[in-house]
Amino acid sequence: MYKIIDGKALAADMRADIKHSVELYRNEYGRDVGLAVVMVGENSASAIYVRNKIKACEEVGIKSFAYYLPQDISQEQLKEHIKALVTDDKIDGILVQLPLPDHICADEILRLIPAEKDVDGFCEENIGKLCLGEKSIVSCTPNGVMKMLERYNIPVAGKRAVVVGRSAIVGKPMAMLLLNADATVTVCHSKTVNLKEECLNADILVVAVGRAKKITADMVKEGAVVIDIGMNRDKNGKLCGDVDYEKVKEKCSYITPVPGGVGPMTITMLMHNALQTAVMRR
Ligand code: GUN
Repeated sequence: MYKIIDGKALAADMRADIKHSVELYRNEYGRDVGLAVVMVGENSASAIYVRNKIKACEEVGIKSFAYYLPQDISQEQLKEHIKALVTDDKIDGILVQLPLPDHICADEILRLIPAEKDVDGFCEENIGKLCLGEKSIVSCTPNGVMKMLERYNIPVAGKRAVVVGRSAIVGKPMAMLLLNADATVTVCHSKTVNLKEECLNADILVVAVGRAKKITADMVKEGAVVIDIGMNRDKNGKLCGDVDYEKVKEKCSYITPVPGGVGPMTITMLMHNALQTAVMRR
């Protein structure tokens, strides 16, 4: 019988802990933890994410500074905005919501954010430290997945972990975290020759490809732990993950639902990272 990993409940627990730590920080240092959230243009999905991030800040007592910048902002203007945030002492963490408009070179913008304000864990220094197994700020979604495995006492060391998807934000740091936790890790992607065969080896299967119900029951080993990072709409417009949940769950020991699985953990880990940047700066 499978168990559901309840990301919503775990996220609520963690937010209560973070709220307490944010209060302690304020009492000790006499200042708020400050997070800048920068959004450029009108992307409707990004607008929802940004709203949720700001709501989460309110919930845990982090002071948010939201900047909604016009779609046609120039590269130079955006750079000036970010540089001002970098030198602003009230701001501990800077998040630039992706994607940026096509005419903006995102890499150049993100490179302006120093490691100590990089709440997304995207910069070279934080990724390099992650690869070296050193303490760093870690990309929110994969970090949230590791917290889920920990809280449910799911062993990772020595297990075969298969990560499907190799994005810089999710797949690659996910693989690195699992490797750092002593799993034997395989990373699959669009050019993988036999995805089913690779997935069938997985004790822990983590999927982040952004394709509705890509992982079917015949691709999952009996007793596997399945973590679904996808967030898609199915044919009927209903929210669904990258895993065919209804059929796959019957084969799992643990599985994350969509919604209510990894999603709530991502923003919670952003709050965790924002607090971490503040603590590191003091
Ligand atoms: N857009 C989608 N996911 C993310 C994320 O984790 N961080 C940022 N900055 N933008 C995103």
